[in-house]
Amino acid sequence: MLNRMLTIEIARVTEAAAVSAARLRGRGDEKAADQAAVDAMRSALNSIADMDGLVVIGEGERDEAPMLYIGEKVGSQGGTQRIDIALDPLEGTTLCAKDMPNSIACIAMADHGSLLHAPDTYMDKIAIGGGYPDGTVDLDWSPEKNILSLAKAKGVPVNEITACVLDRPRHEELIAAIRATGAAIRLITDGDVAGVIHTATPEETGIDIYMGVGGAPEGVLAAAALRCIGGQMQGRLITKSDDQKARAAKMGIVDFNKKFTMHEMASGDVMFSATGVTDGSMLRGVRFEGGYVTTETVVMRSATGTVRWIKNRQKLPD
Ligand code: FBP
Repeated sequence: MLNRMLTIEIARVTEAAAVSAARLRGRGDEKAADQAAVDAMRSALNSIADMDGLVVIGEGERDEAPMLYIGEKVGSQGGTQRIDIALDPLEGTTLCAKDMPNSIACIAMADHGSLLHAPDTYMDKIAIGGGYPDGTVDLDWSPEKNILSLAKAKGVPVNEITACVLDRPRHEELIAAIRATGAAIRLITDGDVAGVIHTATPEETGIDIYMGVGGAPEGVLAAAALRCIGGQMQGRLITKSDDQKARAAKMGIVDFNKKFTMHEMASGDVMFSATGVTDGSMLRGVRFEGGYVTTETVVMRSATGTVRWIKNRQKLPD
């Protein structure tokens, strides 16, 4: 069981990453913004006392990511809490570089052994918010069947359903199939962790369902968030090449075709934190004003279902 004091520590971690990335917001330099977020997140993680943290979803494998690589140990070490960590210091690097909505800094922490070790491949995903009967949607159904089933479960005509889909050529057929049902589509250019989380509060975000192919690491992060906030999600890795299969195997994946449930991607006690970098439908972006910086963060915990919104105002160093 995670120590609940971690709630404040985890918020500090995403706040630090978001503030550093936001200094480079709108500057057209994805790499620099990402690096700033990585540096800040790493240093905040390493200042957490009594935590034996292990990065299981990070910036990449050791040879390609000098910091926050998969397998890196973070936190004070030697503590009593063994924690697995999935992180994305800047989710939506292009959104940040272009100052477009919904770029966030995010992280999930869970009991050791609770998070799926997903390779850096693609994942086919489907997600809806809470309050629907189990099995309302299924990755193996056609888009039509999923949309119709969701509309029925929600008790609304199909034209009142909105699906969120990444705007990519690979989704041409999916988009046509969803539109053919009469449902609407919110196309996003990036940021499907936020896309999935948005399904949990359709009354605020206007999004009922997330569908389509995005990053597998982002899939695990989104599953961790949805575990806390409530909802249903399934994901299937897309491992086409031998290299992708080898990377998945290295992470302990035996069945490359397996449909992972939300609980298989994030089990046990899970905490998730996200801080807005740019303004979004869920979180306001970082504000620098008069020597102060203001951030908005949401911290969630699966054990209690608590969703805590934290608005933090801090004096900037002189
Ligand atoms: P980055 O923050 O790494 O740029 O990822 C943004 C993102 O849009 C994710 O949210 C999504 O899962 C993935 O990229 C989709 O990948 P691709 O851009 O290759 O379609």
